[in-house]
Amino acid sequence: MRTLRSVVRGCGSYLPPRMVSNAELEGLVDTSDEWIVQRTGIRARHIAGEGETTSTLGIAAARAALADAGLTADDIDLVVCATSTPDHTFPSTATMIQAGLGMHHGAAFDVQAVCTGFVYAISVADKFIRAGEARRALVVGAETFSRILDWEDRTTCVLFGDGAGAVVLEAQEGEGTSADRGVLAAKLRSDGRYREKLYVDGGPGSTKTTGHLRMEGREVFRFAVGMVTDVVEAVFEATGTSADELSWFVPHQANKRIIDASADKLGIAREKVVITVDRHGNTSAASIPLALDAAVKDGRVKKGDLVMIEAIGGGFTWGAALIRW
Ligand code: UT7
Repeated sequence: MRTLRSVVRGCGSYLPPRMVSNAELEGLVDTSDEWIVQRTGIRARHIAGEGETTSTLGIAAARAALADAGLTADDIDLVVCATSTPDHTFPSTATMIQAGLGMHHGAAFDVQAVCTGFVYAISVADKFIRAGEARRALVVGAETFSRILDWEDRTTCVLFGDGAGAVVLEAQEGEGTSADRGVLAAKLRSDGRYREKLYVDGGPGSTKTTGHLRMEGREVFRFAVGMVTDVVEAVFEATGTSADELSWFVPHQANKRIIDASADKLGIAREKVVITVDRHGNTSAASIPLALDAAVKDGRVKKGDLVMIEAIGGGFTWGAALIRW
């Protein structure tokens, strides 16, 4: 049955120039390069400088994605930005990106699902496109987690980084089968009972401050593999596809051990797994579009490839989406 699909027309990303190594963090908190690499796989992360904000990173990534798609902001009618570190409580970062692109039409809003934000944003934009409400959507994941870290807490400050990534989705007709290009299925989950395992201890409606990230890392780790593998299996089932057919697995980049364990449990060969956590750290909602863009630009992800994205984050929220590139 012919159906509308949201096809990826282009992608882009942006990382702030300042790269911070594990060795540099050894001078800040009681940690070691050996501990960070062994427990997480992280070797370095990028940190936003003065004058850089989530929206400026997002605008740079959006411009790169538009250029890659051969389009301008005039061609876009929806901007969805996934972020948990907005420049301001309001207006949304999406409207700031919209303005930064010189776009005065269409609609723009943020989606907040912490590290799962990009999967949520893709799912939302896909629904607008398939409902005929938007023709081309810019989906951005942008974060400056460095601004909400407690730089005296070694259990969290070594884990995160800043950056942004974006894709342009375009309505195209498909046959309604898994051979179509575009977003084939997305499954979203959340369970607020786990909200205190990963949260920010401030906010406008509670403390009237921004607050700092707090995480029971071991607890998050305990749930992560089971939750993401369940939701990935649900996407395989919904699309009638299997791990063998996947070209690339592009997971949220929080911890190499979680990524490896998830891939192994799903029966996905390690050489199909895209890893950027070693050089980006955990950039929350930006991690998947940053990893996608890296794998497209180095020639791994090509037109027609079957790509699974997945994430788990604060809330807990978790989700997965299957995209034929
Ligand atoms: O993106 C959203 C989702 N978030 C995640 O997926 C994060 C999930 N969790 C993790 O990635 C891991 O749990 C961590 C990397 C956060 C921690 O690794 P772990 O193997 O679970 O370590 P742990 O928390 O059990 O800590 C082991 C030890 C502790 O010392 P004791 O109590 O055994 O003496 C910590 O105090 O390591 C200590 N430790 C550190 N040591 C050196 C904690 N942080 C550090 C550090 N440097 N930075």
